[in-house]
Amino acid sequence: MTQAQTEEFKAGLDGVIAGESKICLIDGDNRRLSYRGYNVADLVKYSSFEETAYLLIKGYLPTPDELSAFKKALIEARQIPTQILDILALVPVKTSPMDMFRTIISTLSQYDPEVDSNTPEANFNKAIRLIAQAPIIIAAYHRLRHKLKPIEAKKDPSSSLAANFLYMLTGEEADEYAQKVFDICLILHADHCFNASTFTARVTAATLSDMHSAVTSAIGALKGPLHGGANQEVMELLLKVNSLDNVDGYINKMFEEGKKIPGFGHRVYRNCEDPRATILRECSRELGIRNKNTKWFEISEAISQIVVKRAEEKKKPIYPNVDFYSASTYHVLGIDTQLFTPIFAMSRMAGWCAHIIEQHANNRLIRPQAHYLGEKDLNYLEISKR
Ligand code: COA
Repeated sequence: MTQAQTEEFKAGLDGVIAGESKICLIDGDNRRLSYRGYNVADLVKYSSFEETAYLLIKGYLPTPDELSAFKKALIEARQIPTQILDILALVPVKTSPMDMFRTIISTLSQYDPEVDSNTPEANFNKAIRLIAQAPIIIAAYHRLRHKLKPIEAKKDPSSSLAANFLYMLTGEEADEYAQKVFDICLILHADHCFNASTFTARVTAATLSDMHSAVTSAIGALKGPLHGGANQEVMELLLKVNSLDNVDGYINKMFEEGKKIPGFGHRVYRNCEDPRATILRECSRELGIRNKNTKWFEISEAISQIVVKRAEEKKKPIYPNVDFYSASTYHVLGIDTQLFTPIFAMSRMAGWCAHIIEQHANNRLIRPQAHYLGEKDLNYLEISKR
């Protein structure tokens, strides 16, 4: 490695521009996140997850005809091969839903009619299938591991992806506000530029590998607690704290032990709160009031106050990120904690597919170099002399 290359080295690629994209813009200084130029704050007010997915994948807001054709295609794709259901029934129940999801998405490629084609048309069709199949797989496995029969997806055109997922978990129609909040959660998690899992998907796609392979790699990256796995850890923390009286003691101890608080800090939003957390805080608050269960929101707020204060005192500010208030929101919606990260994956599927399509459309192999720190020019010693 040359001197210049060594100087350019940034641990964790922090701040490195690693590619070009027209999909998502994060303006950390102004707490603004936009998809294809549209502020997510407007998308959660006026759009739906389906329309947002179209926007991310196609690059523009659909006309009414385009949106209804897209929704129709998503509904028609609400099915998984019976062989996949059989395989799901064989997955050991101790397998985490995220591990199951990674395996099943990979397996699903073997049943996809266009698995080997990376043309824009094939990729668009595969994106539709993956977005539609993800909720079915997650809900079916959840029910199977609780010894319940999977519930067939609704084919009713008025049933949104959000509403249908909540329905497939319990067999009961969620109320309108719950459906709306869940749809907002899906919109907010749908993309976030070159985050770790999306970058992983693009690295795989850049070898000209197929969409299912790229998405499978992305799921593996999302699973980690520094990325999508944080929302489950937030809920586990809330459950351990369990009461407003325990917040200060618990969080102070975590700081003293040098532990990271899940749901706080972000590589890009260094000096401000993640704009998605601001929206989700309101969802969590309002949902708690409507469901007469404000406990988890109140504990979240108390944790947030002390974490922000302690971090400011250390002169290492951190603020809530997208995972923090999504935990209390999902919990009050009655969703099992182990499903939090798979739900993130189900939503991010739209963003991953959009990035894979963009990568394939203007591809260059992604192949960085390493700053070599190891030994050099050693003499090989015969095994008997070591
Ligand atoms: N709790 C306590 N301290 C934290 C923290 C957290 N959640 N996040 C960052 N910090 C501290 C670090 O300890 C570090 O301080 P130090 O220099 O004294 O060690 C400093 O802030 C910078 O953090 P660092 O981990 O180097 O930043 P990063 O950009 O590499 O990491 C995250 C970003 C998201 C991985 C990190 O904030 C984190 O681990 N958060 C918790 C997991 C999480 O919520 N992930 C979801 C992200 S959307």
